[in-house]
Amino acid sequence: MDYLQITKSPSLKGNVTISGAKNSALPILAATLLSQNEVHISNLPDVVDVKTLAKLLEHLGANIAWENPNTLICEAKQIIHTKAIYDIVRKMRASILVLGPLLARFGYCEVSLPGGCAIGARPVDLHIKAMEKMGANIQIKGGYIIAQAKNGLKGADILFDKITVTGSENVIMAAALAHGKTRIINAAKEPEVVQLCEILQESGVKIEGIGTNELTIEGSGGELLDFKPIRIIPDRIEAGTYLCAGAITNSSITLENIQPTHLAAITDKLEEIGFSFNKSTDSLTILPSAKLKSFEVITTEYPGFPTDMQAQFMALATQCEGASVIEERLFENRFMHVSELQRLGADIYLKGNLAKVVGPTPLIGADVMATDLRASSALIIAALVSEGVTNIHRIYHLDRGYESIEHKLRGLGVNITRLSR
Ligand code: EPZ
Repeated sequence: MDYLQITKSPSLKGNVTISGAKNSALPILAATLLSQNEVHISNLPDVVDVKTLAKLLEHLGANIAWENPNTLICEAKQIIHTKAIYDIVRKMRASILVLGPLLARFGYCEVSLPGGCAIGARPVDLHIKAMEKMGANIQIKGGYIIAQAKNGLKGADILFDKITVTGSENVIMAAALAHGKTRIINAAKEPEVVQLCEILQESGVKIEGIGTNELTIEGSGGELLDFKPIRIIPDRIEAGTYLCAGAITNSSITLENIQPTHLAAITDKLEEIGFSFNKSTDSLTILPSAKLKSFEVITTEYPGFPTDMQAQFMALATQCEGASVIEERLFENRFMHVSELQRLGADIYLKGNLAKVVGPTPLIGADVMATDLRASSALIIAALVSEGVTNIHRIYHLDRGYESIEHKLRGLGVNITRLSR
């Protein structure tokens, strides 16, 4: 099994290029099922989750040609069956994103229930309820969602009791092909949801309210779409992760190929801690801070502080002066990184969905275990300032969402090696 060995780093320096957003690539790949023509997608992150979804599309019959690790052409013309099998879905819960497109286009599909994951139960009840509202008949049998909509889906008013990113994306894609108008109230408005709406709008689908919590989508009545070439937006969470690496080592590093407006909640919080930035339209330089002040964070939906940055900021909090308080409001079990940070010497007190982190605490390198994607990156951030050597195990979690992370960190001066044992 691979593990990463990291030695305590002096301050970092240099530039890092941010990859395309995994959480934009996944719904956009699923959306290719709404077309029978070739779709050209560039700036894809070279990560396992993107490869897994591409494999699922090929398993369904789509033809995928990779031009390079970050660019592919997908042609979902000959879809030979509509069953998203357990063996693929269990590897990546976002496979649920094929439910909406398959049901809207073929009127029938079987999608394996994704099951929970380390950060929580992560049910898909809101996805299912929305499809039923659009006229589908849904059964759960043998661990599969069996969905039927013989005469296609019809537009409906969908009110989400909770804001769900992939739930919104499933409905947006289903509504694009449905008969009539769909209104989504309490829709997610993350940048990744916005890009999905934009590429559908560019293919001729009438969508109003893009970037707000209320969307109106005029369906094509079953007519397939034709997408223009798509370039995936930069990954705001990868960018935030590197900013935390620069912050914890009090370095000046520059991030290239970013969309600064998507990072506002992250850069605002770093400014509160004491950092400042030089910003341009597609790059950002973080500047060292004389003092790291403790902070408070509550994770909420976009444009609030992202839950996907919670673990990384917890690592940073171990070096901030005083007691920082982190409240995780989206997932019921997203503190798996706490016990691993404590192995490095972090002073963290947990009570329910609240964590209190006292700093600055000197950390000492140790063997630690990654438990989920973002927790893995938090351990890397902590390892940068942990005395001696830290070995991070189960880094398959990391490879799901961070492209060439050790190569990028080495480019910033980090002493990091991927080893096997
Ligand atoms: C997306 O997951 C992201 N994944 C997650 O990123 C991210 O953490 C999450 O949104 C929140 O921002 C992708 O976009 C592929 P949700 P998603 O549905 O859509 C509850 C990463 O690290 N809920 O917005 O699965 C759910 O349990 C990943 O890249 C229901 O109760 O999250 C959670 O408490 C991790 N029923 C809350 O809503 C449902 O049917 C938000 O979940 C759906 C969701």
